[in-house]
Amino acid sequence: DRGRASNYVYGAAKAGFTAYLAGLRARLWRRGVHVLTVKPGYVATRMIEGRRLPRWLVASPERVGRDICRAALSRRDVLYTPGWWRPVLAAYRALPECLAKRWEL
Ligand SMILES: NC(=O)c1ccc[n+]([C@@H]2O[C@H](COP(=O)([O-])OP(=O)(O)OC[C@H]3O[C@@H](n4cnc5c(N)ncnc54)[C@H](OP(=O)(O)O)[C@@H]3O)[C@@H](O)[C@H]2O)c1
Repeated sequence: DRGRASNYVYGAAKAGFTAYLAGLRARLWRRGVHVLTVKPGYVATRMIEGRRLPRWLVASPERVGRDICRAALSRRDVLYTPGWWRPVLAAYRALPECLAKRWEL
């Protein structure tokens, strides 16, 4: 949702994919095809092994999987999981870049 100094190549790929999925969703919804964009926070998988993160920040794959199933069944467009990331990211996106670059999370 925002370019960050520590991983902006990864972030740019995710931002591009998000735009791609939004376009695909807009193209396919009339034909009844649902496209769900999943935006997870930190998830306890191999990808983050060895990273020193507070436990409360890291969700289990089971939790994230359940959220994804529910979102798919209710045909949501975009899922933040766990859900509290949605307001956090909304606030982070709203932060002017001149501040965000100083206060990188
Ligand atoms: N974990 C997080 O905190 C987190 C947060 C946000 C988003 N994500 C995103 O969630 C997605 C899944 O990540 P994860 O956390 O589940 O990571 P993971 O446990 O490391 O799993 C990555 C998966 O991708 C497969 N893979 C990697 N390179 C591949 C390639 N070149 N061709 C085909 N398959 C390949 C791996 O296959 P093998 O098992 O065969 O190696 C593995 O199944 C990624 O897009 C990641 O960016 C993860």
